[in-house]
Amino acid sequence: MGAKIWAHRGASGYVPENTLEAFRRAAEMKADGVELDVQMSKDGELVVIHDETVDRVSDGKGYVKDYMYGELQALDVSGSMPDYGTVRIPTLAQVLEELKPTGMEVNIECKTGIFFYPGLEEKVVKLVQDMGMTERIWCSSFNHESVLRIKKLCPAMKTGFLIGDIIMDVADYAKRYGVQALHPALYHMQDEGLLERCRRNGLAVHVWTVNEREYISKLGNAGIDAVITNFPDIAAEALRRTGSY
Ligand code: G3P
Ligand code: CA
Repeated sequence: MGAKIWAHRGASGYVPENTLEAFRRAAEMKADGVELDVQMSKDGELVVIHDETVDRVSDGKGYVKDYMYGELQALDVSGSMPDYGTVRIPTLAQVLEELKPTGMEVNIECKTGIFFYPGLEEKVVKLVQDMGMTERIWCSSFNHESVLRIKKLCPAMKTGFLIGDIIMDVADYAKRYGVQALHPALYHMQDEGLLERCRRNGLAVHVWTVNEREYISKLGNAGIDAVITNFPDIAAEALRRTGSY
C-alpha cells in the first residue's frame, strides 16, 4: 500500500475550502480521504471552518464562537474564490453524512488550539459513534490535550498529533501518549531520520500541506502514509509516477 491522498479542506485548490462542494469534488477526484477543520458556534454546533473568525472566507466578520449556527448558515463562504458562487458553512454532521457512502477516510482536525471550546471533543466522538464511522476517522489537533481527551472518550478512535514547531524527540513523545500517527508539516521532513523514528515507534506519518509534484513524489518514494494536499488529482498523478499509488 502506497501513500494515501487526503484532500486538504476538501479539494480546496479548486473549490472554496471546507464546503460540502469541496468534499464532493474530493470524492469525484477519488481522493482516499479528506481533512477538515472543526470549530464551534455560540449555540454549540460543530461547524467546519478553518479560522476562529469568519473574516477571511466569508462576507461576515467576527469570531465563529460568537455566532449562532443559524447566523453562520446565512454567510457566503466563497471568499477565497469569489467567482465560484454562494457556498455555506457545513456542520460536521452534514459533511459526515455526505462522505459516509463514499467509504473515504476523514481526518477531523479539532481547532482547539486558540479557543478551548467546552465539550467539543465529546460532541465529535458522539457524532462519529452515532454515525457508525469510527474506523474511518482520524482525529488530530495541534492541541494535544484535545487529542488525548478524544482517545480517552473513545479508545478505538485513531488519533494523531499535529505539529508545527520542531519538537525534541517527537516520535518518542507521540508513542508515549499512545497516538497512532504524527501529522508533521512538509518542512519537518527535512529531518531525514524523522520518518524512520516514527516507523520504529509504530506511528503512521501524514504530512501537510503538500501541493508541489516534486515534494509529493519525494514523500511517496520515502514511504509516508498520507499526503494532505489541496490538489488530489495532481497528487495522484505525481504518486503514480513514483509507483507508490
Ligand atoms: O491538518 C493539517 C493541516 O490542515 C494543519 O494546518 O492550518 O491548514 O489547519 P491548517
Ligand atoms: Ca487543518
